[in-house]
This record gives sequence, C-alpha cells and structure tokens, in this order.
Amino acid sequence: MGMSVSQGEHTPLDVLILAAGLGTRMRSSIAKVLHQLDGRPLINHVCRTAAALAPQKIYVVVGHQGEDVQSAVLSELYEEQVEFVWQHKQLGTGDAVNAARELLQGSESTLLVLSGDVPMVRPETLAALIQHHHAHRGRGAACTVLTVKLKDPSGYGRVVRGDEGLFERIVEQKDATDDERSIDEINAGIYCFQTEKLFATLSKVQNENAQGEYYLTDVPGLLKAEGEDVAIYKHGESREIEGVNNRVQLADLERIVNRATISKMMLDYGVSFIDSKNCRISSEARIGRDTIIHPGVTIEGKSEIGDGCEIRAGTRITDSKIGYGSTILDNCLVINAEVGRNCTVGPMAHLRGHAVMAENAKVGNFVELKNTKLGAGSKASHLTYLGDATIGEKTNIGAGTITCNYDGKNKHPTEIGNNVKIGSDTMLVAPVKVGDGAVTAAGSVVIEDVPADSLVAGVPAKVKKKFESDSGSGS
Ligand code: UD1
Ligand code: MG
Repeated sequence: MGMSVSQGEHTPLDVLILAAGLGTRMRSSIAKVLHQLDGRPLINHVCRTAAALAPQKIYVVVGHQGEDVQSAVLSELYEEQVEFVWQHKQLGTGDAVNAARELLQGSESTLLVLSGDVPMVRPETLAALIQHHHAHRGRGAACTVLTVKLKDPSGYGRVVRGDEGLFERIVEQKDATDDERSIDEINAGIYCFQTEKLFATLSKVQNENAQGEYYLTDVPGLLKAEGEDVAIYKHGESREIEGVNNRVQLADLERIVNRATISKMMLDYGVSFIDSKNCRISSEARIGRDTIIHPGVTIEGKSEIGDGCEIRAGTRITDSKIGYGSTILDNCLVINAEVGRNCTVGPMAHLRGHAVMAENAKVGNFVELKNTKLGAGSKASHLTYLGDATIGEKTNIGAGTITCNYDGKNKHPTEIGNNVKIGSDTMLVAPVKVGDGAVTAAGSVVIEDVPADSLVAGVPAKVKKKFESDSGSGS
C-alpha cells in the first residue's frame, strides 16, 4: 500500500475472516478451515496473509469446532493481533459478518472481509484491492468486490454487471438463471467495505433465496441500489482466489502449491528431483544446492537439508535438520531429529524425539534412535534400539543392541563413552554407564556400570578382563 493519494488511505484497516462453517461439501467431521494445505490448516494461510497487511486487528468468526479453530489461529498469530467472534448458528456469510456487529459497526475503519476457505490469495493482491478501494473515483468506494474470470465458474457467485460494465449485484449459483450462470466473472468472497456502511446495509439482507441463508453477497447489490459506489477489482491470477469447498479442490491446490515449491527449489536453490511429481515438499522447508531428492520423498514442516545430500526413495523427513553431504537411504522416517554432516542413515531407519547424530555417524537398517545422541564417527549399523542414550565418538554399537530404557513406569538414561565396542545382542539395562574403551561381549546383559577399558560378558555381565591399552579413556 502507500501509493494512493486519496483520503481513504489513512483510514485504519481491520480484517474479518469468516471461518464458522462446517463445510458440508467436504463430507468431513472436521471443520473445513482445519483441513490442511501444505501442512497447515487453511485458516492459518488466510491469517498469515492477513497479518502481512499489518491491520489494527484481525477478527475471526468461529462457530463449528470453534475452539479448535481458535487454537489453530493462535498457532499462527499473536493473541494481541486477533479477536474471536462467535457465530453459534451458521445462517450464512451475511449472518457471520453480523456476528461482529457489536465490535465493529461504529468503526471508521476499512474492513477487508476474507473467507477462511480461500487460502492462496497473496498479500500483494489484497494490498492492490485496498488501494483500488480507496482510490475509486478519487474519494473511495463504499464497497469493492474482488473478482476473477474462471474457465469453469460453477459453484461460485457470479458478478452481474449493468450499464457501462458497472457493478450491479452478485448472484449465487443456486439462485442464478441460465443466463447468469453463463457469466464467467466470479466473486472471490473477498471484499473491502466502509465498515459503517456495511453494517447499516447488512441489516436489510433477507434470507429468501435457494439456500435460506443470509448472504453477504447481497450487501454490495443493496449498497449499489442505495446509490453508493460499488467498485470491482478484477484480478488476473485465477488460482489465487480458488476456494476450497470439496476435497477435489483441496487436492488441486495441494498439487499447485507443491509444484510451485518444487520448481522454486530446482530453479532458485539448485536442488535435483528424480521424479518431481512424486514428492511432497513443504514450502517452509529449505534444501541445499546439489542435493538429490529421489522419488516418493516427503519433506515436512520447517526441515532444513544441507548442500550435497542425497535423500533416497520413500523417506519422510519432518521438522528435522540434515547436515551437508549426508545420505538418507530408502524408506527412513526422520522426525524431530538432527543429522550432522556426512552421515549415513538407513535404509529403513527411524530417528525421532530429538535424536541427534554428530558428523560422520552411521545408522543402518532397522535401527531406531529416540532422544539419543550418537557421537561423531560412531555407528549403529543393524537392528538396534537406542533410547534416552548418549553415545560418545568412534563407538560401535553391534547388531541387535537394545537400551532397555523403560522399566514399565519410568524412562532411564544410558551413557556410553568413546571408542566403545558394544557386542551383538547386548542388553543395556538403564540406568547404566559404559566407560571409554570398554567392550561388551555378544549377548551380555549389562545391569551395572562398565568401567573404562574393560571387557564384560555374561548374564548379568561381569568384568572378565582389563585392557592395558590407551583405547580412548580420558588420556
Ligand atoms: C461464497 C460466496 C460466493 C463466492 C465464494 C468464493 C456467499 C453467499 N457466497 O460461497 O459468492 O463465489 O464464497 O469462494 O457468501 N461461513 C461462516 N458462517 C456461515 C457460512 C459460512 O462463517 O454461516 C464461512 C465459511 O466457514 C467459509 C466462508 O464463510 O469459510 C464461505 O462460506 P462457503 O459456504 O464456503 O461459501 P461459498 O459457497 O464458497
Ligand atoms: Mg467456499
């Protein structure tokens, strides 16, 4: 904003987001605006866009599963930015706006009305709408409707233009004549209003229509009939205003967002995709140059993957960091984990619960790390569970090792030092410590701490030998 010289520019901006509906056409027991696009609820997309305009306040009309919608909104916005308005019965979009009457009707603000189910609109587009609204005929409009031409306008409200192509009214698909249905300019469900005029006219909206609802879409037509200026801001990018009313539309948007994310990664960040159509990458993820992503990879949340990594087929990485030069082999699950540089993970490994691998570490097939730190150069190559463990550097964890961290009530830690060799099938009954340079024989059940530079064996494991060597203890 800031280009207009009209007075209106100085009126403060409020945003009202309609998000109380169930979304019958989703055929879901979850409120429509809570369905996810690009890993975040639809309502969060709209809230983030609204916040980018820095309005005085963002009002969100909630109703269906309103508490859940509120917590979704508060995961995106600060409490001071937002005010919730309850619409207990969903009697239509006009009634939804009316729920905010007490809070807004006397306000001298400009009110931007957004739909919680139109998630792709960009802040730049809304800023242009607002500017157009204020600049209309040099004095600003009472209302400006955001419209777009669609190849297939079915389902949307159509914008009827009268003499000289001026705005006349909006007619909903279900109330439209065949002629009106052939109009391809649609109402995006996004409007700017002079707040006072909106509420004055909203009182006159009736529900005598095909759906028996109070339509917000009647307000621009009523304003026009009262001699007010109603402007149209016709936008060129139809994708931005696509609404989500059913799961087909949701899947279409998911594909569009995902494709845009992947294209950006390829063109701007130098990431290779072997099969770009068959990967799902969060738009909030970061991937480094010359990293190769194989088919069927999913990268979620704010994951960060360094340069020169290779992520093989079927792996999912969520909210995790992967250092440069690391390879995640096929079919791994990496959630809330941190993998250092030049590590190898998998195939079929599971890192979770703040698992951390330092540089040059290796985790092999059927290995699970939970809340465990594996030190630099250390390896757990086969069939192992390491939970609540801290493992030093250059230690080898033999096949089939288990940290028995759970006694049925509480979790206990295991500490393993540097240069340790844990023999195959060792059970480490936590809490327990294994000193630097120690060795456990295959099949040991370790129930008490193992001193540095010693060999333990048996069930329960006993010290069998002390090493003279300098295998890594403190020296
Ligand atoms: C609405 C418009 C239509 C426009 C389309 C654009 C009306 C009557 N129609 O239709 O002209 O082309 O959006 O996407 O406005 N909501 C409430 N309370 C209610 C009803 C709805 O909060 O009582 C909320 C919904 O949660 C949703 C939004 O308002 O986020 C839009 O409602 P929806 O039922 O999706 O309207 P559309 O049929 O898409
Ligand atoms: Mg809709």
